[in-house]
Amino acid sequence: KKIAIVMGGYSSEYEISLKSGNVVYDYLDKSRYRGYRIHIFKDKWVYVDDSNQEFPIDKGDFSVTVNGEKIEFDAVFNAIHGTPGEDGLLQAYFELLGIPQNSCDYYQAALTFNKRDLLSVLKPYGIKTATSFYLNKGDHIDTSEIVKKVGLPCFVKPNKSGSSFGISKVKTEAELPIAIEVAYKEDNEIIIESFLDGTEVSVGVINYQGEIIVLPITEIVSENDFFDYEAKYLGKSQEITPARISEELAEKVRSTAKRAYEVLKMKGFSRSEFILVNGEPHMLEMNTIPGLTTESLIPQQARAAGITLEELFTNAIELALA
Ligand code: DAL
Ligand code: MG
Repeated sequence: KKIAIVMGGYSSEYEISLKSGNVVYDYLDKSRYRGYRIHIFKDKWVYVDDSNQEFPIDKGDFSVTVNGEKIEFDAVFNAIHGTPGEDGLLQAYFELLGIPQNSCDYYQAALTFNKRDLLSVLKPYGIKTATSFYLNKGDHIDTSEIVKKVGLPCFVKPNKSGSSFGISKVKTEAELPIAIEVAYKEDNEIIIESFLDGTEVSVGVINYQGEIIVLPITEIVSENDFFDYEAKYLGKSQEITPARISEELAEKVRSTAKRAYEVLKMKGFSRSEFILVNGEPHMLEMNTIPGLTTESLIPQQARAAGITLEELFTNAIELALA
C-alpha cells in the first residue's frame, strides 16, 4: 500500500511537524507499506524522495507523477500540526477526494483546534475548565475587566495554535497588552485563562485495534514557568510516565479523557491536557495531530503501554483503510 505521509504545514509548528513526519516515515512497517514524504507548504506541495528531489503534487487529485508514472495514494498519514492539518482543512479535502486518512474527521478537527469552542462543548458534560475571557482582533481591550474575570496570574493564548507558540503567563495587569499582542501574531482570536495551580498531566486516547484505549498518563514538570516551547522541545522539562498521582485521580483523568473522546465522536489519535486542582482534572485542550517526534508524549505513552511506534502507526493506517 502507498501511504502519503503529509508534513510541514502553514503554521509556526512546521518544524515540529517535519520531525513528526520523518519519525512516521522511519518507523513505517516497510513490509506492509511504502511511505512517501509529502511536504505541504503555502508555496509548494511536493513529494520528496530519498535523495531529496522534489516532485509537485497535483492538487486536483493529490497524485504525483514521477518519471512519467502517476502515483495515487491508498491512504494519508497526517503529521501536520496546526493549519491546514489539524484544523479540518486537509481532512475535508481528503474526504472530498475519497482518500482514507488516519486523523479524525474535519468537523472534529476544526472543533478541537478551537480551544474556546472545544471547552464550551465539553463543559455541559461535566468536564471542568479554567475561567476564560475571549478576544477577537480589533476588540477593545479593557485590562481591568479581564483581570476581574480571570484573576492573576493568567495565561494569554492564541485560541487556535499549538506547541505553546504565542502563549504567555502574565503576572501583572500591565503585562497584558504585550502578551495579547504576542498571541495575536499566531491567531486572530485569543483566549485568556485563569491560572490553575496544580499538577499538569497529558494523556493519549486512541482507537487501538477497534477499541478506545487510554494510554498511560504523563506528568509534566516544567523547569520553566510553564510547559512552553523550550520545555516541550529543548529538554526544559521532565515528563514522567506514568504520572505520580493516586490511582483514584488517575482514574478520573482517564475517564474524563475517554468521555471527551466519545462525546466528540473522535477517531484516530487524541492527546488531552489537564491541570489537576483539588482532586479534579481541569481540561486545557485536546490535540488531534499530537507530536510524534522522539521527544513527544504519545510515543512515550505508547512505549509505556508496550506498543511500539511501528505498531502504533500500523494501527493508525489500518483503521484509516478499514
Ligand atoms: N502541538 C504539538 C505538536 C503537540 O500537541 O504535541
Ligand atoms: Mg496543543
